Amino acid sequence: MIVTTKQLFEQAYGKYAIGAYNINNAEQIMGLFRGNIQSQAPFIVQISRGARTYTDKQLLEDMICAADKIFPEAIFAVHLDHGDEETCYDCIESGFYSSVMIDASSFPFEENIVITKRVVERAHAKRISVEAELGQLGGVEEDVGVDEDRVHLTDPEQAAEFIKRTGCDSLACAIGTSHGAFKFSGSQSLHFEIIEAIRDLVPGFPLVMHGSSSVPQEEVERINAAGGMLKGARGVDPKQYLPAAKRGVCKINIDTDGRLVWTRVHREYFRDHPEVFDFRPIGKVFMEEYAKFIASRNELLGSAGHLEEVRVVLSR
Ligand code: 13P
Repeated sequence: MIVTTKQLFEQAYGKYAIGAYNINNAEQIMGLFRGNIQSQAPFIVQISRGARTYTDKQLLEDMICAADKIFPEAIFAVHLDHGDEETCYDCIESGFYSSVMIDASSFPFEENIVITKRVVERAHAKRISVEAELGQLGGVEEDVGVDEDRVHLTDPEQAAEFIKRTGCDSLACAIGTSHGAFKFSGSQSLHFEIIEAIRDLVPGFPLVMHGSSSVPQEEVERINAAGGMLKGARGVDPKQYLPAAKRGVCKINIDTDGRLVWTRVHREYFRDHPEVFDFRPIGKVFMEEYAKFIASRNELLGSAGHLEEVRVVLSR
């Protein structure tokens, strides 16, 4: 069942975070749905602009619709990740997305407000939720890289003003994370004081944490042992997910960790089975490993086990 992110956040706020997982292909979709059902968690299917053009947006949307039928128990939102204005409108008009992100964070404050407000008006007319972004994360998100000198943390006072003036439903804040597998050169520094300050200024308003992959060291070691070269890859301590959730972070974005599962499975499989040239045996291993990974993340986010409760509230 497709619901809006707003509906999910209303139930999760202050208790747990909903996992937002980026998907690109059929194997990921199967693994994603299986993992969420196994762990009985509501979730967010997150689609980037790159994912929409990897095969074809129609194919991706139809595969998600098929998964919705295969797993009738599932409760999830379909969300555009890091949309520009044009892509947001395309998703809003498509009738399929229940949530879009307008990322105008690279524009000056006033321009970000004007763009976000335009998207909010169009989305809300169709009952679609809108995530916006203020502040800039570092790292590389698909084809978009942000130089270190442009990175800046979210200003809480500005965030409160931004939320009020745009009418957005959730806000992605820069609190020291970055996209990709190389997040921290020294010790990790998440600025929970920023989340707390925004929460105090705008109590009850859902916040979003991007760049949240934990880049498990065991995964990195296995990839490197199977021929990979990911030296120095580091991520967010996953024990920080729940403390962030308790402070009002309702959505935690995880993409890179899923790519690491894919890389580890494929590198090890071809190393250990050099005679194989069929994609199905390895696809099955990946789906199973990806499902396990999703279930393990939902445990850390605190969303595991909440599916029935969410269903009961939504059916009232
Ligand atoms: P990671 O690169 O840490 O997985 O972050 C993904 C993300 O924030 C997508 O918007």
